[in-house]
Amino acid sequence: MSLFNHRKKPSTDTIENGVKLVTAVEPKNVVSEQFRTVRTNIEFSSIDKEIKTLLFTSSDVSEGKSTVSANTAVTWAQQGKKVLFVDADLRRPTLHTTFGLTNTQGLSTILASNEDYHSIQTASAIENLTVITSGPIPPNPAELLNSNRMKNFLLSVENEYDLIVLDVPPLLSVTDTQVLAANVDGVVLVVRQGVAQRVAVKRSKELLNMVHANLLGYVLNDVAPKNGYGYGYGYEK
Ligand SMILES: Nc1ncnc2c1ncn2[C@@H]1O[C@H](COP(=O)(O)OP(=O)(O)OP(=O)(O)O)[C@@H](O)[C@H]1O
Ligand SMILES: [Mg+2]
Repeated sequence: MSLFNHRKKPSTDTIENGVKLVTAVEPKNVVSEQFRTVRTNIEFSSIDKEIKTLLFTSSDVSEGKSTVSANTAVTWAQQGKKVLFVDADLRRPTLHTTFGLTNTQGLSTILASNEDYHSIQTASAIENLTVITSGPIPPNPAELLNSNRMKNFLLSVENEYDLIVLDVPPLLSVTDTQVLAANVDGVVLVVRQGVAQRVAVKRSKELLNMVHANLLGYVLNDVAPKNGYGYGYGYEK
């Protein structure tokens, strides 16, 4: 779904109605305000250490990783930060659909063919926001994401951008994210209310601890959608 293809009446532009980038389409919407709160809380959760690379993950599928990471990345770009948003979910990628882009080349191309990322990255419709789509789905995502090429890619983009946000697969089903979590400055766990199991969240935390990942906090997604407050942010307890 592209950002601009479904510009209907403003009042219907909500995530529940299929508009993924509410922060871009309706910056004044209450949900966009919630995403700005998420952004601020993430910033406050790491005062002493500058966060340059950040990933959003969850225990299981469909908890809202892609929605939350894309919208929070947009709010940073709107704040004037030079942001790179990367689809590192090489299994169920969605960034290209959300931004209405083709996906013939992307992160998998950079990692598999050692292609220079400058020829792959693309400007989005949002000022200050550059994106890298997943590229074709590879047979060996975990291996690619665990490679030295991935580490070198992150080091290179850190020099060029203020912030790099990664959308990744869920923690419990595959090893991709645990590996990546060890190589980024911060991890945010998206927890969908009514869907995420307490035991699964606990296990995710253990997996992150195992690799000494820097868990910054939790985004509680879908908290009370009827009130329009779809997003909340909680600290680790
Ligand atoms: N707060 C919300 N209110 C309503 N719908 C939501 C909300 N958050 C996410 N969704 C919807 O739930 C679905 C899954 O969201 P999303 O794709 O962001 O999850 P994901 O964790 O990235 O999934 P996957 O595990 O497949 O990568 C999407 O259709 C999205 O629009
Ligand atoms: Mg996703």
